[in-house]
Amino acid sequence: METKIIDHIGIAVNSIDEAMKFWEGALGVKCHGVEEVADQKVKTAFLPIDDSEIELLEGTSEDSPVSKFIAKNGQGIQHIAIRVADIEAALAELKEKGVRLIDEKPRRGAGGAKIAFLHPKATGGVLLELCQRD
Ligand code: CO
Repeated sequence: METKIIDHIGIAVNSIDEAMKFWEGALGVKCHGVEEVADQKVKTAFLPIDDSEIELLEGTSEDSPVSKFIAKNGQGIQHIAIRVADIEAALAELKEKGVRLIDEKPRRGAGGAKIAFLHPKATGGVLLELCQRD
């Protein structure tokens, strides 16, 4: 599988506005936009750092995966995404190797990317996302 870089690190926060006071205000990382991904019930803010980004994730409803994550663990790193050149090929290869997947087929993520999650039980406890950007 051809992996490229850490595409982004997803951080679950109670409030993007509140979190931005640190990331933008104190650290000086500029936000390049906020997008709502309706089917994941999440609002996402992108803060690029070189070719990677920090993604702040705020749940838009109590049954959103991000809200559930915060209810269980508190705010913090929710997932790590690695960029792949061909997500369908990567998923087929992982399935072939017996890796447990959450998404067998890619879905649409923020910024028009194709994304798929691997199961934390298969990755040593990390929710890992594969991400393809064209
Ligand atoms: Co992500």
